[in-house]
Amino acid sequence: MKKKISLLLVLVLLISILSGCGKAQVESSDKVKSEVESYTLEGIKNKGKIIMGTSADYPPFETHVMVDGVDQIVGFDIELGKYIADELGVELEIKDMDFDKLLGGLSTGMLDIVIAAMNPSPERLEEANFTDIYYESKHTVLIHKDNASNITTLEDLNGKRIGVQLGTTQEKFAASIEGADVLSLTTNPELVMNLKTKKIDCAIMEEFVAKSFAKANDDLIVVEGINIDSGSEGVAIALKKGNNELTEKLNEILADAKAKGLIEKWFVEAFELYND
Ligand code: ARG
Repeated sequence: MKKKISLLLVLVLLISILSGCGKAQVESSDKVKSEVESYTLEGIKNKGKIIMGTSADYPPFETHVMVDGVDQIVGFDIELGKYIADELGVELEIKDMDFDKLLGGLSTGMLDIVIAAMNPSPERLEEANFTDIYYESKHTVLIHKDNASNITTLEDLNGKRIGVQLGTTQEKFAASIEGADVLSLTTNPELVMNLKTKKIDCAIMEEFVAKSFAKANDDLIVVEGINIDSGSEGVAIALKKGNNELTEKLNEILADAKAKGLIEKWFVEAFELYND
């Protein structure tokens, strides 16, 4: 009798493990896994990499250079991306895209973060999460040196042919200039070409970007002292709307990098590298 009971007990136990309990456990762990979106802090740790979108046409923030015959993307934002990946203990994957496609890449989940000298303007804050500002920057005007006496103030931009990058805050600003003939192009080097051939009178970009292009092109100069509204005090990292845990984590990493003097160091190094 005792034997029978214990056999029965073993059987019951076996059946319950094989069916009910066991299955429920498998199901719940599967569920937890699939509920973690790949762009969240946990999702990024699970996949072992963070996917950063940028638009590598904007030295010293991000630009293509040839190193030993190999095309590479380098710059201030790239150093920041590498640091973030290191701090999270994951690999960094960079996707170089048109600037105006970056926020779309976040909302579809194709990108985890965007580091592209992006201003957290009020319109963009509706669409995406942004970290704190990691670099304060102003916008300015790049012109052909033959135009030096024609463009010295903001008012001088009225009625001019103004080049801007598509989807930028500079494009929005240009649209507000009276009588301006605005040419929106996909990349900044294309704007530079149009300036050199005098198809446009000026191009609007971040101050140090304009300085970098002027340094690399003898025929171009930066107009000092024109105050252009960029919609924010500087640039920040963009994330998918609602990706709050990662946003907070990045804010911690940024504050730490700033306190260590790394932000300033990366910027100076990138500017010097491009302006050698
Ligand atoms: N700061 C400007 C904006 O947010 C322009 C940024 C352009 N960035 C680039 N990587 N091309 O619209």
